[in-house]
Amino acid sequence: MAAIEPCLFIIIGVTGDLTHRKLLPALIHLRAADSFSEQVRILGCARGSNLDDQKFRTLANQVFDEILKQKDRGGINPEQETKVRDWLNNAFFYEPIDQGGIDDYKALLKKIEMIEREGHLPGDRVYYLALPPQAFTSTIEALGESGLNKSPGWTRIVIEKPFGRDLSSAQQLNALVHKYFDETQIYRIDHYLGKETVQNLLAFRFGNAMFESLWNRDRIEHIQITAAETVGVEKRADYYEHAGAIRDMVQNHITQLVALTSMEVPGAFDADAIRFEKIKVLRAIAPISPEDVVFGQYAPGEIDGKHVAGYREEPGVAPQSKTETFAAVKIKINNWRWQGVPFFLRTGKRLAKHATQIVITFRCPPVTLFQDIEDCKMHPNTLVIKIQPDEGFDLSFEVKAPGDEIRLECHHMRFDYEEAFGEPPDGYQTLLLDVVQGVQTLFLHAEEVEASWRVYTPLFAYDFRPHPYPAGTWGPEESAALLQKHGAEWIIL
Ligand code: BG6
Repeated sequence: MAAIEPCLFIIIGVTGDLTHRKLLPALIHLRAADSFSEQVRILGCARGSNLDDQKFRTLANQVFDEILKQKDRGGINPEQETKVRDWLNNAFFYEPIDQGGIDDYKALLKKIEMIEREGHLPGDRVYYLALPPQAFTSTIEALGESGLNKSPGWTRIVIEKPFGRDLSSAQQLNALVHKYFDETQIYRIDHYLGKETVQNLLAFRFGNAMFESLWNRDRIEHIQITAAETVGVEKRADYYEHAGAIRDMVQNHITQLVALTSMEVPGAFDADAIRFEKIKVLRAIAPISPEDVVFGQYAPGEIDGKHVAGYREEPGVAPQSKTETFAAVKIKINNWRWQGVPFFLRTGKRLAKHATQIVITFRCPPVTLFQDIEDCKMHPNTLVIKIQPDEGFDLSFEVKAPGDEIRLECHHMRFDYEEAFGEPPDGYQTLLLDVVQGVQTLFLHAEEVEASWRVYTPLFAYDFRPHPYPAGTWGPEESAALLQKHGAEWIIL
């Protein structure tokens, strides 16, 4: 791929965890692969830090050192190492925005102009808001009011999740950002969309005629989507106490998986067509009944043979906290294709296994030829799409077990992503590259975010009490009951 044209990539909130864990590693890999040319400049900004150009370069070099300590040096050879070091030491800059006032942003503009002049850049700029959500509004306003939303070239703004905390706050944030930027300049991130296996859902569905004719209420019995984590709240209690599993995972990541699994075939493979179909299907989700919702909260338990604390004992969590660390929800999509096919969604922290999987359970054959034969139980065919880890597909089917008697046995056909292609790259590389190339397919449209909040916001009016579940299990029993009512059970491979 040709290296992208020179531009200036401005990270606001550069001292935060996201920059360290995701953005700098992604930028380093993009430069190593020559996807970013040496002319691309990175400008970090933050409040209340003592960084300067030199210290920021040192910090970026430290992140690079960590990458080189990984297995196979993070895939970076010595020649690439020299190239990346050179870039980190020459193309990285820092500017403080101490009080976040207009004067700070005017100083920022001066620094931007200096970097662009000296680097012979055309004035194309990305503002990446790697900030806590409470800082979004003031930062967007400051960018707009100080004129930084305009530039000699193109200007794009990247906004991390969470985009609002309910429908009305998302609408307000959309209104604010639209005051200064038009929709084609706005890149709302959901990092799940950067994952290769999530993008592969589209290739799988629309590149294989075989499944499309089965992908509907006639052939599919129900669909499950699980995003299970073994980690707890980590050091994020401040944020998580006000979020919970619905806001943190279901409204965004899992709902994106619902949309990609259930959307109609888009007219073209482009941002407008794909996002239009996603919005359409999200708008068809029926109001969720409170009986179809189960909340849980992890109690002390064991993960990988080690005792772990319960949520309420985690630092920063209120001793009587009612925040849900687990949610299971049944949704229905009221359209021609999906009428009567329930979608069961669940996510949780401190569960038994780290796994994100989509399970399509097909209907059994309409006539069960084998029903009178003793011991001949028939299992429905399932297609399991493994988003992470052990990325791949697994299709189960019935075969006759050898012998005189007719006995059915369930077997599997598998596709292993890593075996075929090696380890998938981190989604942030894909997303950052798309931003500088101006490709919006993997970013959320304003209406998409609002359509998704419209589904879950009514739930916030209920006082759901989370059921405790021991860490290291699959969540509260009530979650299993949600599927049992439907004659099914949760599947995880
Ligand atoms: C984030 C959530 O958006 O996604 C975290 O805030 C969660 O709580 C994370 O752990 C999961 O992402 P991934 O890519 O590890 O599945």
